[in-house]
Amino acid sequence: MENIQIKHPEIAKMYEDILRQREKVIGAPMRQHYHFMPDVGWINDPNGLVWFRGRYHAFFQYGPEGAERTAAKWGHAVSDDLFHWQQLPPALIPDQPYDKWGNGMEGGCYSGSALVVDDRLYVMYTGATENRQVQCLAWSDDGVNFEKYEGNPVAEAPEGFSQADFRDPKMFRHGDSFYMVLGATRDNRGFALLFKSPDLFKWEFVNILAESRGEFGFMWECPDFFPVGEDKFALIFSPCGLNECQTVYMVGEMDFERGVFDRHVTGVIDWGQDFYAPQTFLDDKGRRLMIAWASAWEWMPYWQGSRITEHEGWCNGFNLPREIRLMPDDTLAFIPVEEVKALRESEDRMENIALKAGEQLDIGRGIAFELEMEIDLEKTNAREACLELRRGNGKAMKIIIDLARAELRTDRSNADEKSFGVSRSRIRLKDRKVLNLHLFADNSSVEIFADDYRTVHSVNFYPAADQDGIALTADGEVYVNKIYKFNLRRTIW
Ligand code: FRU
Repeated sequence: MENIQIKHPEIAKMYEDILRQREKVIGAPMRQHYHFMPDVGWINDPNGLVWFRGRYHAFFQYGPEGAERTAAKWGHAVSDDLFHWQQLPPALIPDQPYDKWGNGMEGGCYSGSALVVDDRLYVMYTGATENRQVQCLAWSDDGVNFEKYEGNPVAEAPEGFSQADFRDPKMFRHGDSFYMVLGATRDNRGFALLFKSPDLFKWEFVNILAESRGEFGFMWECPDFFPVGEDKFALIFSPCGLNECQTVYMVGEMDFERGVFDRHVTGVIDWGQDFYAPQTFLDDKGRRLMIAWASAWEWMPYWQGSRITEHEGWCNGFNLPREIRLMPDDTLAFIPVEEVKALRESEDRMENIALKAGEQLDIGRGIAFELEMEIDLEKTNAREACLELRRGNGKAMKIIIDLARAELRTDRSNADEKSFGVSRSRIRLKDRKVLNLHLFADNSSVEIFADDYRTVHSVNFYPAADQDGIALTADGEVYVNKIYKFNLRRTIW
């Protein structure tokens, strides 16, 4: 596939520039070790995630020119295992009146999705110009070169909805029809709209799938709608205008005849500061996988911008791919994909440790590692325990298990020279004998899973290379049933 000729001259030129810059950027000190990031440049949302001809394809909002956001292109990478990625030439660049912003610096080919029909890879994206966002179809037969449909755009905002904020189509198939769910806004409130098509080319507006009455912000970005469990559906979206809650899910029953989504459970996908615009897809193993953008926008409270990594020529990446499962109470669990286990290269096991107030448990060292910890709540009387990562030079990333308030927090404000902010969520302690945490640390991030993978925090921070200590402290007694640590092999440079 990689020997296929690039047909679009501008894309060919862009890819040459990427390959040239690549040597300067890959392996830079703050880059991740096993979380996806493109070889160079700026990245935001995952787009068009799909299993196609025996490989995972990830597209993404891309600015290969440097660490700053530019007019949106679709970057493209492929993988066999979700951890080793190869970057291919960009798939889409703004070159049409409906996807090219006047100044050439903003707008462009905004987020969208992919669908394989008859061995052809179709993508639907938003063409974003100054005052108008429309939906556009393109396809590829070789998996590298994309052709835009000459009849674009194929969908516009329905009457009454803003033409300027109507984006992020997520296509899916149900029965004999194709559908897409889109983010929209009306009267300063966010919406997910459902469209239907017999053939991917002709689309009609069906219904409002869900809407904010103020409690879920003024615009919904990157909605996704998919089956979970036996007979339920989940809607996920990224609402603009909420403070510390950036990604929401709803679970309920779907009536496709009437286009009505009857939701009865609502939850938050991730409480960390660096998790946004998740997209899901079904892989060849039948798993519903989710990948998100591991960062934030300037309108969010803990935005750190590109200033921290810009001198290295890159900004942002993806979170750990997670499998979505429906729990018996109709909440969702987000479980790191099992492929990550293949990265384990060393193992330290500690068991049955009674930690006294004020004592410190040394858990060794690590930069890219996985940690499983189980605390015996019956033998623990501490009000608060604190797991510190990347300790050194008087700094540390803190993960605070607040048993008195049933809260999980991360605090990155003393983790490095620049990061700030505390993330907070509830944790379920009632009727529990043990508390389990599962954590994935990489060179500049940590993701913590609790409550049987229903509560997650994804956070970026940028410690120095010699900060690598790990320790547990508490203000009372803590009984640790086990702490298992696995160092993880590098797959990204
Ligand atoms: C979400 C988002 C989308 C949009 C894209 C533009 O992060 O704002 O709504 O399509 O990014 O890059």
